[in-house]
Amino acid sequence: MKNILVTGGLGYIGSHTVVELQNEGFKVTIIDNLSNTRISVLDKIAEITGIKPDFHQIDLRIKSDVKNFFETNTVDGIIHFAAFKAVGESMQKPLDYYENNVNTLVYLLQEMRDRKLDNFIFSSSCTVYGQADILPITENATVKKAASTYGNTKQIGEEIIQESCKSHHLNAIALRYFNPIGAHSSVKIGELPLGVPQNLIPFVTQTAAGIRKELAVFGNDYPTTDGTAIRDYVHVVDLAKAHIAALQRLINKNNKEAFEFFNVGTGTGTSVLQVIKAFEKASGKPLNYKIVDRREGDITAAYADTSIANKELKWKSENTLEEALESAWKWQQQQN
Ligand code: WQD
Repeated sequence: MKNILVTGGLGYIGSHTVVELQNEGFKVTIIDNLSNTRISVLDKIAEITGIKPDFHQIDLRIKSDVKNFFETNTVDGIIHFAAFKAVGESMQKPLDYYENNVNTLVYLLQEMRDRKLDNFIFSSSCTVYGQADILPITENATVKKAASTYGNTKQIGEEIIQESCKSHHLNAIALRYFNPIGAHSSVKIGELPLGVPQNLIPFVTQTAAGIRKELAVFGNDYPTTDGTAIRDYVHVVDLAKAHIAALQRLINKNNKEAFEFFNVGTGTGTSVLQVIKAFEKASGKPLNYKIVDRREGDITAAYADTSIANKELKWKSENTLEEALESAWKWQQQQN
């Protein structure tokens, strides 16, 4: 049974990917420093799959701890989620973001190099494209200068991996996520924003639950059909399954290049106002919102051309926006 290391495996996307890995028969070892999640997620994963993953509470910023882990653990592949991911926060604490998102990647890749480990999946983001010139966004769209430190750490991460693949015979895939939303159908795992949610959907569900007074819609003067910004909202379980497809591609040596990258989205763009309408329909609850100024650093529109992922990974998102929003609402109600 192949053993897959999942860093950040108790996080939002990480925990959903661990469930799908176990469903596919992989053994899973999780490293997480619990800085942005709760240890209870580990038991929830076990409740869903019946298998409790190995767990190591390790901070990947401590190089010696990373080394010690690999001295006693052999892995057949690594899916690397562990990173800070708040765009706004990254502008306030750039050095924390470079330390956590870049140093940890280097330490992991050094261990893979020294121990001749292979098969690395990297959690990247559509943020690397900035505001693309052409929509939908394909993988050969220009990678523009990042608009945020967070986005820059993802661009730098991809470059570091690409160079490692060239020099150390590593095989790796970067998955460029669009906007992950929703929760597992068991309602046992989902997005756990600690503090005031930065992302749209958790703010929507907390407003509907009465935890937040109203949703602030960041701008309705964008050049879009209804003036609000457009994104590609992809169900987190569909996103998790894309990681399995990417891992199988590497394990089965079906990759065409040592370093590959794929857009992971639905291929459909949805505006903020359209999300609100779809949520009201999915939850049966009217949503309190007001239009405010644009949020600094936001782009007008981003949605994926998924034809390469469809063809090469044989992966396609299956959940509709309404299904994703309904799962997010059920998860929020469970939290209350
Ligand atoms: C979505 C839309 C906002 C909150 C970022 C990262 C991306 C990924 C997801 C990590 C935008 C609007 C939001 C609110 C609003 N992060 N909005 N009111 O900024 O597209 O993507 O998070 O993996 O890499 O770039 O996501 O959910 O913050 O915003 O109107 O209270 O909702 O302006 O148009 P974003 P988001």
